[in-house]
Amino acid sequence: MSENNTRKIYFDNAATTQLDSRVFESMLPYLKDVYGNASSLHSFGTQAKQSLDELRSSLASGINAQSDELIFTSGGTEANNLALKGIAFANRSKGNHIIVSAIEHDCILNTCKWLETQGFFVSYVSVDKDGLIDLDKLSRMINPKTILVSVMHANNEIGTIQPIEAIGRICEERDVYFHTDACQSFGKVPIDVVAQHITLMSLNAHKIYGPNGVGCLYVKKNTNIMPLFHGGGQEFGLRSTTENIAGIAGFAKAAELCMAELPTERKRITSLRDKLIQELDNRFEGFYVNGSLTQRLSNNLNFGISGLEGETIRLLLLLDEKGIAVSAGSACSNNDTTKSASHVLQAIGKDPFEARGAVRLSLGRFNTEDDINYFIETLETTILQLKSIFSNN
Ligand SMILES: Cc1ncc(COP(=O)(O)O)c(C=O)c1O
Repeated sequence: MSENNTRKIYFDNAATTQLDSRVFESMLPYLKDVYGNASSLHSFGTQAKQSLDELRSSLASGINAQSDELIFTSGGTEANNLALKGIAFANRSKGNHIIVSAIEHDCILNTCKWLETQGFFVSYVSVDKDGLIDLDKLSRMINPKTILVSVMHANNEIGTIQPIEAIGRICEERDVYFHTDACQSFGKVPIDVVAQHITLMSLNAHKIYGPNGVGCLYVKKNTNIMPLFHGGGQEFGLRSTTENIAGIAGFAKAAELCMAELPTERKRITSLRDKLIQELDNRFEGFYVNGSLTQRLSNNLNFGISGLEGETIRLLLLLDEKGIAVSAGSACSNNDTTKSASHVLQAIGKDPFEARGAVRLSLGRFNTEDDINYFIETLETTILQLKSIFSNN
């Protein structure tokens, strides 16, 4: 970023979010005073254990789970690994077939690739041009050897929200475990693990204005699952290591704030995002949105502009020089520009060239209408700048 630029606008909230100062404050007592090990018998330990129980209960209530159904982890990646590997190995005698959607995050897809080397068979359910899976297709894929279906709640690149309640119902009827990666949707869309028939669900704190390095896996009571870590038996035997109580406190506070502010924030962000779409459509010929316009997270806009697809990286770097952070496709996996085009955009029917041309804006709590106006003006001048670079070449 250029040094003399003072204005900074962050539109990459799907990658990670700024820590909310209220969350930061809530973590301080656990970094300074409540430092006992929750497994110790003395008063320092019992105080830590009591805090841990209260924080777990607060988080669980936000998704209609029981306290002892939450397993704290280091984040979404670990929760997804625990869900898939833990279910696969614990239920091997029942079957070795897993179904996932084609547009899952890399931490699901790469876990599946590894499970395939361990004797498991994985089927990938495709999505339509809006990014939605076909429920009949999913249903037909389930066979007597299927032990798990994993479909993300909302996609990190295009924000598509899947019909998880209907998926959960199908899985329940067919006696198959249902896991959903809700790292992107948690705090933005109400979630009820009972009403939505969810067996396992991954969440993390850093997408909801909480700290990095903490998340959890919801595991419905009586689910047959194995741990990845073996040790002192913390987290009901499913995740050994001394608990990160300060991180968990931040996670619980971040979740509480998101739940309390959800209806008003969703409305506010939707109107900012819709203004953005309207303005971009008015000003840029060839503007198009990738993914569903209706079944979509309120804060996500993934778009392209015909004719400019080959210049996305240059566009992002020029915007960054002007203080605006946006992303090319998904930045919550490695934003390596030499990487192949987005699997998500190709799954919705884009060719690799179009897929490489996508720009993702993910709005958040600290964005204002002023930011949107500044972005639109800056994008316009930056595109003119790019066009003059082409015409001089
Ligand atoms: C849908 C989704 N799942 C999982 C993850 C990984 O979570 P974490 O960074 O907490 O490991 C991310 C992004 O980071 C994500 O967007």
